[in-house]
Amino acid sequence: MKKLFIYYSLTGNGDYLAKLLQEKGYDVRKVIEKKKMPKSFFFMILAGGFRAGMKLKGKLIDYNNNVEEYDEIVIGSPVWNGQFPPAINSVLAQTNLKEKKITFLFYSGSGDTPKAIKRIDKLFKDAKVISTKEPKKHPEELEKIKDL
Ligand SMILES: Cc1cc2nc3c(=O)[nH]c(=O)nc-3n(C[C@H](O)[C@H](O)[C@H](O)COP(=O)(O)O)c2cc1C
Repeated sequence: MKKLFIYYSLTGNGDYLAKLLQEKGYDVRKVIEKKKMPKSFFFMILAGGFRAGMKLKGKLIDYNNNVEEYDEIVIGSPVWNGQFPPAINSVLAQTNLKEKKITFLFYSGSGDTPKAIKRIDKLFKDAKVISTKEPKKHPEELEKIKDL
């Protein structure tokens, strides 16, 4: 059973999870958005929050959307303004996830993801959802991914 972790990360929490999942045998694809985020935290929150709130997609650099050889796919996403960041909106639009066993793995400041979960329930009704609170700072959150 081949497993794939597709994820986006701006400040390292997703990268931290990617390393752990890779050790568990997952193939890993990090998604990079072409548009650069502002360096200042304030403007980062403002710009990222706005684009996520509008459910915008972002242009991706060299994204490989071929997932044919995988049975299980975990999609790793930070929560921005309660939603997916633009890069993950693009992944969802560009990847054929039908017939796959899908898990959404969220990482956020609050550990809570109600708006994004509502959207997943509509788009992928059989998907599993795991919400973590910044796992880089809270390693006890890793308990939640032990069955992946
Ligand atoms: C633009 C932006 C918006 C964010 N909005 C939220 C939010 O609405 N709720 C929340 O709990 N955390 C929010 N956060 C915090 C991130 O979700 C959290 O730090 C996450 O772990 C970041 O993952 P990363 O380090 O892989 O990029 C936001 C962070 C950024 C940069």
